[in-house]
Parts: sequence; C-alpha cells; structure tokens
Amino acid sequence: MPLQTTKNIWHNGELIPWEKATIHIMSHVVHYGSSIFEGIRAYTQSGSGSAPSAGIFRLEEHMQRFRDSGHIYRMPLGYTVAELSQAVIDVVEANGVAPCYIRPVAFRGYGEAGINPLTSPVEVYIANYPWGKYVPGNDGANVCVSSWNRHAPNTMPTLAKAGGNYLNSQLIRMEAEINGYDEGIALDVHGLISEGSGENLFLVRGGVLYTTPLSSSVLNGITRSSVLTLAKDLGIPVMEQTLPREMLYIADEAFFTGTAAEVTHLRSVDRYLVGDGTMGPVTKAIHDEFFGIVHGTKPDRHNWLTPVSVKAEEPVAV
Ligand SMILES: Cc1ncc(COP(=O)(O)O)c(C=O)c1O
Repeated sequence: MPLQTTKNIWHNGELIPWEKATIHIMSHVVHYGSSIFEGIRAYTQSGSGSAPSAGIFRLEEHMQRFRDSGHIYRMPLGYTVAELSQAVIDVVEANGVAPCYIRPVAFRGYGEAGINPLTSPVEVYIANYPWGKYVPGNDGANVCVSSWNRHAPNTMPTLAKAGGNYLNSQLIRMEAEINGYDEGIALDVHGLISEGSGENLFLVRGGVLYTTPLSSSVLNGITRSSVLTLAKDLGIPVMEQTLPREMLYIADEAFFTGTAAEVTHLRSVDRYLVGDGTMGPVTKAIHDEFFGIVHGTKPDRHNWLTPVSVKAEEPVAV
C-alpha cells in the first residue's frame, strides 16, 4: 500500500512541510546505512459517551530506545527523552491524524564521504501517517523458518534499532513472500529461534508462555515487554529461554508481537498447523488485554498511553 502523507514532519526542532523533508544523495546514511529509527503507534480510545481521544503507546520507552540506539552508534541525538517525546506529541497534534504510525529517524547526513560517520552531522526527523495492519492473514499468519540467520553476536548489535539491521530483515521478508508465506522467522547463528523480520515471537506449550531472550539476537521489543507484563497480570507462567526450532512445530499456540504486528497469531509454521490453526486461549487472553488497553475499553493501568489531542477518529490523509 502506498504511503499516505501528512502535512508536517519534525526536523531538528521545527515542523517543516512533508515535501521539504529531503536529503542529499551524498549523505553518509545513503552509502553506509548509518541510521537508527523507531516505530510507535497512536491509538484512538472510545471514551464513555464523550468524543474519542488519542493516546501514544509507550512513548517514553520508545524515545529511550531511540536514544540508546543512537548511543550504541555514537550518534548523539541532542535531545532528551522528554524533548523527543514532546516533539512526537507536537507532530501528531499538528497533523491531526489518529490512529497513526509514528516514525522517528536519525541519521548521519551530508559531511565527509569516508566510512567514519563522526564528521557527518546527525539529523533527526519525526514523521507520522495512517497505517493499518502489518502482518497479513486475517485468520492468522502462515509463516516459514527463513534460510537466513539473524546477525551473529558481536556483528550487528541487535539491541540497536538501526537501519542497517533491516537489510537482514528484508532478505527474510522477501524470501518468505516469494515462497508464498506471510512472514519469516529467523534462527540465530546457533540454529536456535530468534525472531521474525520485524517482530518478536512467543510460543505456548502446556499453558506456559515462552519467548526467546535478548541474547538470541532479538530486538528488545516494547510490545514484547508489554506482553510479558500482561502475562504476569493474567497469571500466565512465562519462560524466557532459548528455544530450538522444533518447538515451533509442537507449540499449542504461537504469536508475533511488535508495534507494526501488534499481537498476531500464527496459523502455521512451515506448513505445520499451530494447534488447530485458530487463535488459542492464551494468545486470545493477551490479545484481548492488549487491544482492550490501547483502544480504551480496559483501564490503562500501567499508564502506557500518552494523551494527544487529535480530533479525527478515522485516518485523514492530507
Ligand atoms: C526486528 C524486530 N524485532 C522486534 C520488533 C518489535 O519491537 P516493538 O514491539 O518495540 O515494536 C521489531 C519492531 O520494531 C523489529 O523490527
């Protein structure tokens, strides 16, 4: 689906028109992939009888990860978590689009042409736009184990949400789609389960919820951490441990989590049906709790939503 544009993009402290947010072809990032980014969703909440309001999901945690990604790459963003969070609120309110997806991105811009990024300026942008469901498959996603592995430890740092990491994700996603699957799951360099091309992975077996640890070359997903909190709230036992590939084939339930994927259940893996292919009870409990909170039908007991005043209930692209 083509990107729907909005009016404004935040750039280094100012709102500029969408079409002016361009960069030079000789910018460092174009040649060497020196970018870091975030993906955040703002949801509309149905109030009790009143006008709908909007809330940004776990804004500060995303901005902290944004700064952490910059820190790992020695790319100082020049803004505090509070300033970046305010910038997100400003751009969302200025554009008046909710629900929406928010994309902060920082990169090394136009400077020297060599590999060392330190002499190229850091540019920070924040865009937002309407965006719906990410992982296809309304009745659950049909996924495969990719022939591509995730980054080996001490190669590309997976705790940094860096643009360059997504070359690996692109290979995984393209291979999956070309072979008729909705998404691919990568193994790590040891042949153990890592994650999807843009999602963390959870499995359920015998009522226990399993997910891979940060040492399995995964991104420290904010939806993942939310699901771990919800599982604790719901009294679901959780094991965070390395998992062999075949756990995918004997799982009772499986689901992806991510800002884009939200909570998406897996129907099949490598054509093995997961359970009976429908959303299982543990996944459903977590799914309903997650969507209840973000859509305002359940209390936001962990204060995950930052309110923004956006009048539109439906996406309105400009
Ligand atoms: C590789 C990868 N893993 C996991 C996730 C899920 O992270 P989050 O829940 O913070 O969006 C994402 C999406 O950002 C991702 O790109």
